Amino acid sequence: MNILILGSGGREHSIAWKLAQSPKVSRIFTGPGNAGTADTGTNLPVNPENFGEVKKAVMKNNINLVVVGPEAPLVAGIHDFFINDEFLRNIPVIGPDKSAARLEGSKDFAKAFLTKYKIPTSEYRSFDSTNISEATGFLKTLKPPYVVKADGLAAGKGVVILDDISSAEEELKAMLSGKFGAAGQKVVIEQYLKGVELSAFIVTDGHSYKLLPEAKDYKRVGEGNTGLNTGGMGAVSPVPFADRNFMEKVKVRIIEPTLKGLSAEGILYRGFIFFGLINVDGDPYVIEYNARLGDPESEVIIPRIKSDFYELIEGVVKGDLESRVIDIDDRYVATVMLVSGGYPGSYEKGKTVFGLDLARDCVIFHSGTKLSDNKVITSGGRVLAVSAWGNTIKEAIEGAYKNARRVSFDNMYYRTDIGFDL
Ligand code: GLY
Repeated sequence: MNILILGSGGREHSIAWKLAQSPKVSRIFTGPGNAGTADTGTNLPVNPENFGEVKKAVMKNNINLVVVGPEAPLVAGIHDFFINDEFLRNIPVIGPDKSAARLEGSKDFAKAFLTKYKIPTSEYRSFDSTNISEATGFLKTLKPPYVVKADGLAAGKGVVILDDISSAEEELKAMLSGKFGAAGQKVVIEQYLKGVELSAFIVTDGHSYKLLPEAKDYKRVGEGNTGLNTGGMGAVSPVPFADRNFMEKVKVRIIEPTLKGLSAEGILYRGFIFFGLINVDGDPYVIEYNARLGDPESEVIIPRIKSDFYELIEGVVKGDLESRVIDIDDRYVATVMLVSGGYPGSYEKGKTVFGLDLARDCVIFHSGTKLSDNKVITSGGRVLAVSAWGNTIKEAIEGAYKNARRVSFDNMYYRTDIGFDL
């Protein structure tokens, strides 16, 4: 079995690291990958959003299966591209087709779906440039803060939360005037929910599902959850408040109605679903769906899967996921993201990374790294995710920080309070 993993972040490195441990997997390719995935297999110079390039790489390297990491190729229809190509149609793609990926690709679709299938979510309405005055009228019916979301993918910047109504009106008009291009042609305005966020994950073959470990992500760049939003500065799994009782509510009120809803819509979903949830006084609500695994959540949930991850992937391909086994490690895993100073704003690249060989009792997943003259250098904002196991949250966090301190590159930054609130 030759597998191609599309993407280049810590999520893709963690998938490659885990699949490389399976006796059923012969070779792993990652496209385009990073310096870490160059160790777990072979990197291929492909842009996951250039389907022609992906096709060439698949054919040249006798790929038997493709796992799609990020959302953009899924929303753009990579699964459909494979099904409709005479040479690729028998090569399974793990990740939903274009119609199913609308769960992430269109906030308006997701909210309408949640409402139709009575899945707990906040009140909302969608607007376009023809009904701006109705949109401002709707804003006035809501209590602050105001949540304004571009309908489509906007590189993680399309969700804006504002305290005052005039800024919310300005943001709404900016989005509808093209701030995010086509992604903002439609805008969702919704009631803000106050609570603690949680990332829950399943893998599904469209009929049954397996619950993967849950995680808490730390999105703001600064200590104490302050400053700009990022893709995530660290994560912890398991999450203490996500106890048996809470996760039962997640299954019964959210996961199962979502799968029933997809099936009722005639959508066969094959891949991962990431439920962005919020715990409001002990009850889970959906903030958003994602059609993929999270990053940096993957860097804590994948190290907690003790059984063969390929078994689950094969279950999706064969449609017999129900009979597959997933064995989860009870221990905690914490990850700390080491980023380039300046991220998520502008930052420098090309800094040499030192100390990777000093890491102990942890796994370091690469994100924005590449090899240059056999040295690992930085090539992005989020550079490395240092993940460590522990019998307690404290032990896992200490393990991650102890190893984070062993690594260095010029202008490296990380948050020092990951998991401290749990
Ligand atoms: N960490 C959040 C995400 O992957 O979207």
